Parts: sequence; structure tokens; C-alpha cells
Amino acid sequence: MGNQVKASEQSMLDEVLDGLQKSPKQLPAKYFYDERGSELFEQITYLDEYYPTRTERLILQQNINEIADVVGPGAMLIELGSGSSSKTRFLLEKLPSLAAYVPVDISEEYLLKVVNQLRMEYPKISIIPVFADYTSSFELPNMSGSYQKQVVFFPGSTIGNFRPPMAQSFLDMLASVTDDQSGMLIGVDLKKDKAVLENAYNDEQGLTAQFNKNMLVRLNREFDANFDVDRFDHRAFYNEQKGRIEMHLVSREQQTVTVAGEEIDFEEGESIHTENSYKYSLDEFQELVSDWYSVEKIWTDDKNYFSLQYLTKK
Ligand code: AVI
Repeated sequence: MGNQVKASEQSMLDEVLDGLQKSPKQLPAKYFYDERGSELFEQITYLDEYYPTRTERLILQQNINEIADVVGPGAMLIELGSGSSSKTRFLLEKLPSLAAYVPVDISEEYLLKVVNQLRMEYPKISIIPVFADYTSSFELPNMSGSYQKQVVFFPGSTIGNFRPPMAQSFLDMLASVTDDQSGMLIGVDLKKDKAVLENAYNDEQGLTAQFNKNMLVRLNREFDANFDVDRFDHRAFYNEQKGRIEMHLVSREQQTVTVAGEEIDFEEGESIHTENSYKYSLDEFQELVSDWYSVEKIWTDDKNYFSLQYLTKK
């Protein structure tokens, strides 16, 4: 176990140094989510400017009967990056006869806490946690014959944080670990007015800026780095051509920072690209998944800001 932890720390450090030595500089968005980063993200989801979470929740609530019908009784519901499973509760309420709820999350300690709570709330549903990084291949519990079909639940438009080729390798992996008849209920953020998009990532309270800069705080703590976060600015904008929000940390001045003994030089105005959040049209998303999945059903809100989609494996 100790060695495993060391191996994952080493691979994070390798990725971090590799990204900071590239031109332009970049850091993997998955490293936002240490304890503080997860807390900040949770707070972001309640911001007025950040429409995705509340819109998805509303779509789920307003269409819950239809959605529960599509998932169906006796399903194995597999949630990726389940976190607090807050949106899942709507589904669990309506689907007391699920064969199993399988939350998949990398944070073992947190997942166990949530699972204990859910077992008390839903004593009739069998809850089988899987501790895994769902972006690399993982194993599902072997329950052959005891469920009707597998349905993957992947809310939040997290798929938007993958570049399209990565999203497709992820879909390919997912299709390989699930059954032939399986389905997927997925949240997908949609293209919309640029001002609405940019506001969602530039909130007035500055929580998104803190979330972005927390990456540097994490590197200072875990890799003995010496970033002065006040010498970097949060920048988020919609790249229309690529159809994505980009988040960056921009160096206010020329400076040199040390990370795990390596010196990293910054020019004034040089940026570290920390995140992409792709926004899709319905057609683009259908095209993205088309090698593996057919889009069976789409639910949206009245402004067409966000969509929940039910896909079936081809
Ligand atoms: C988790 N993910 C879908 C969020 C997003 O909108 O891309 C992460 C986030 N980044 C800044 N604010 C929220």
C-alpha cells in the first residue's frame, strides 16, 4: 500500500513537471481535487453564476419518472466519480427495486462514509462501492444473472473536462467494461451565449479563482514548491473555435519557481493552462459518442443550457 501511494505521488510529480516544462505550460485538471479543491468545487456548484449543477438537478427532478422508467427496475446503476451521490438520491428514491447501486470513486475514505449513510437511508438497495480511478479501466462487481441491465450514471458534464479524443478513449474503455445491452445516463453541458458561459467561470465572489489557484497551493504542500499565488491571476474565457472554456493561471511578472528542486521560469503574462470544459451542441455530442453509443433520449431545461441524455451501447 505504502509503495502504491508513493507510485501515484511519483506519477503525479512526473505529470506536473512534464506539464510545467512544456510550452505552453499546462497542469492536469484532475489535480484540482484535493480536500480543499473538492470543498471549493462543492461551493462553486451553489453559485448563482454556475448554472450547470442546479440546471441538471432541475432536469432530473422534472423528468424523474421518465428517467426512472428508462433506467428500469432491476438495473445495476453504476455512478462514476460519485462523490456525495447527491443527485443519485433522486434516482434511488424512485428505483427501490434496483439490483445494485455501484458508486465508483477514487477517494476510498470519503466513498465509505457516503456508502454507510446511503445504506442506512436505502436499506433495501444493495450498495457495492468500487474504489477506482474511473478514467482508467476498472472492474465492476460480478453479479451475472442477478440484474436486468447495467446503466452508467455520469452526471455533471465531467465528460466536458476531457479533450474529445480522450473522451472517446474513455467511452471505448467504458464500453469494454460494461455489458452489451448497457445504457448510460450522462449530463452534457450545451453551447450557449458566451457571456453566460464566461460568467460561470468568473464568479464575483472569486471562488473559481481560488479553486484554480488551489492547484498551486497543493503543489507547494505536496512537492515542496514555492509558488506565490498572489503573483498569478485566474483567467477563464470561452474559446469559440474549440468550443471550450479554458482556465489559466497567468504569471503577473517574470519569475522563477521551484518545484521538487526543478526551476521553472515564467515570463510576464505567461500562463499555465489548467482546465478545459468543452460545451457541445446536441449534434456534436451525438457525433462524439457515435462509435460506441446511440442517443435514445434527451432531456433539457427551458433555456437549453444543459442536457441529460440516455445512451445505449451499439
Ligand atoms: C467538474 N467540471 C464539470 C467542472 C466544469 O464546469 O468543467 C469543473 C469546474 N471548473 C471550474 N468550475 C467548475
